[in-house]
Amino acid sequence: MEPQRPSLKPAAASLSLGQYHISEEYGFLLQNPLKELPDHYRPWMEIANKLPHLIESHQLQAHVYKMPLLDCRFLKGHRERRLAHLVLAAITMGFVWQEGETQPQKVLPRSLAIPFVEVSRNLGLPPILVHSDLVLTNWTKRNPEGPWEISNLETIVSFPGGESLRAFILVTVLVEKAAAPGIKALVQGVDAVLQHSQDTLLQALQQVRLSIQDITRTLAQMHDYVDPDIFYTVIRLFLSGWKDNPAMPVGLVYEGVATEPLRYSGGSAAQSSVLQAFDEFLGIQHCKGSVGFLHRMRDYMPPSHKAFLEDLHSAPSLRDHILTSGAGSCLIAYNQCVEALVELRSYHINVVARYIISAAAKARSRMPSHPSPHAPEDRGTGGTAVLSFLKSVREKTVEAILHPCA
Ligand code: HEM
Repeated sequence: MEPQRPSLKPAAASLSLGQYHISEEYGFLLQNPLKELPDHYRPWMEIANKLPHLIESHQLQAHVYKMPLLDCRFLKGHRERRLAHLVLAAITMGFVWQEGETQPQKVLPRSLAIPFVEVSRNLGLPPILVHSDLVLTNWTKRNPEGPWEISNLETIVSFPGGESLRAFILVTVLVEKAAAPGIKALVQGVDAVLQHSQDTLLQALQQVRLSIQDITRTLAQMHDYVDPDIFYTVIRLFLSGWKDNPAMPVGLVYEGVATEPLRYSGGSAAQSSVLQAFDEFLGIQHCKGSVGFLHRMRDYMPPSHKAFLEDLHSAPSLRDHILTSGAGSCLIAYNQCVEALVELRSYHINVVARYIISAAAKARSRMPSHPSPHAPEDRGTGGTAVLSFLKSVREKTVEAILHPCA
């Protein structure tokens, strides 16, 4: 059974990663995701395994209309449900966007909608492609003993976009992996505050900083492998949702589930728990508008990961502890974590500028007489007005720098 939200821990108890289905080694990544479902679900897997081809050859919708309505009862265990969610989500995105941004499908047929909503309910996830599908559940090592490198990783389900799509997913997998030591250290840091152990806190903060710096270095691999034009013109479309998206203003009808259309945001790494965990641990407070979006993204995370963020929030304040304990070395180490997070967010803004803002300008210049009717370039797949949002989040991170009490 999927880990539903654990009960809130008492405010002064230590956190245990296992309780939230987070691993010391893999962080928020699902450990050893499955590649196959039981034979009963072969019709889903046959479509999912050739998804890029079916979309590119405009045949996917016809295949979906012929899909039998399958019973979800034969899905056993959390990992089967996670793979089923990934598979049904990927088919859904392909089905909706097969004919491009200007001709989305507005009704999801019952053979897809009914099982997708049921699996989603079981997992506590929304019925749309989320970061937990595309990244956390969508990786496998070619050689299990081999290194954590793009060349030794493979996706399980793919979309159009070839090598760039593959690398976009797998670099993000590597980012999640790079975060794992930081997430482990952050829990040790919470414990150290509870135990008033300055040495342990110092070590934990140093490890958190190293992990954040490793994430930034890993993110840089996007530039090596992902072509901005392919990201902007191909990949982005299949991550787009049906909330705050002018291309689908009223949402999507899930046939056999509800008569009214439902609205869900598209897949975005803003649904990763990693940066939100660092923010909670470091006590970084974002402005009201940003918090609204970031907290809404928690509804797109596995419930146990969302619970982890909430419990981190109610842990004793690290900032208060550092200011009142008078431990100068911890204050310096804390500030180095914040600075590393600012650098990561600045780097991420550069990535967004290249993959969305510049790529959009280039696309416009190629088709000056056909501007997109929806000017999507200033909106992310999660639906935000990109740059102002990201700059505000970075600015609030800068403001968290602590100054020693006089
Ligand atoms: C080509 C690569 C990437 C692009 C184009 C990109 C784009 C965006 C955009 C447009 C947003 C605004 C929210 C939205 O509307 O979706 C966003 C937010 C965010 N992205 Fe990325 N992103 C990329 C890679 C990543 C990776 C690998 C991570 C790491 C997990 C990441 C983590 C985040 C986070 C945490 C936010 C929320 C804002 C924050 O906390 O700073 N992104 N991204």
